[in-house]
Amino acid sequence: MKIIISLILAYLSFMAMSARAQQQVKIPEDISKLLTQYACLACHKADAKVIGPAYVDVAKKKYTNAQIVALIYNPKPANWPGYPPMSPMKNVPEKDALKIAAWINSLAKKRS
Ligand code: HEC
Repeated sequence: MKIIISLILAYLSFMAMSARAQQQVKIPEDISKLLTQYACLACHKADAKVIGPAYVDVAKKKYTNAQIVALIYNPKPANWPGYPPMSPMKNVPEKDALKIAAWINSLAKKRS
């Protein structure tokens, strides 16, 4: 009986561990390259607040990709009370900004 219980416990903790591993947001390599290149990662993480909000939380706002691109060029600090204002990142080419925006929005679907 004891053996069965410890087997069940081992199984449950294994399941809990793999569930946790799945929740961690992996940034795809091409996106990670862009976020590094444009220094976004200095202030943002995919799944945790740094200086700016976590991208999973940005995804919850349900912006369109185009709206996110516009916010990268012209941030609206009023959207994030309690955060310092983000400086406009007009150096990001629109095609790269769109890729980042689409990835941010993809985070909402995975987590909902
Ligand atoms: C110097 C720090 C800093 C850098 C660098 C930075 N951000 Fe931000 N970001 C912030 C902060 C702080 C906020 C919240 C306040 C605001 O929106 O002004 C924010 C907000 C955002 C939002 C949410 C906008 C909204 O109104 O909901 C997006 C999207 C975003 N950042 C994307 C990016 C991307 C993409 C990059 C890289 C090109 C980047 N950020 C670089 C600090 C930064």
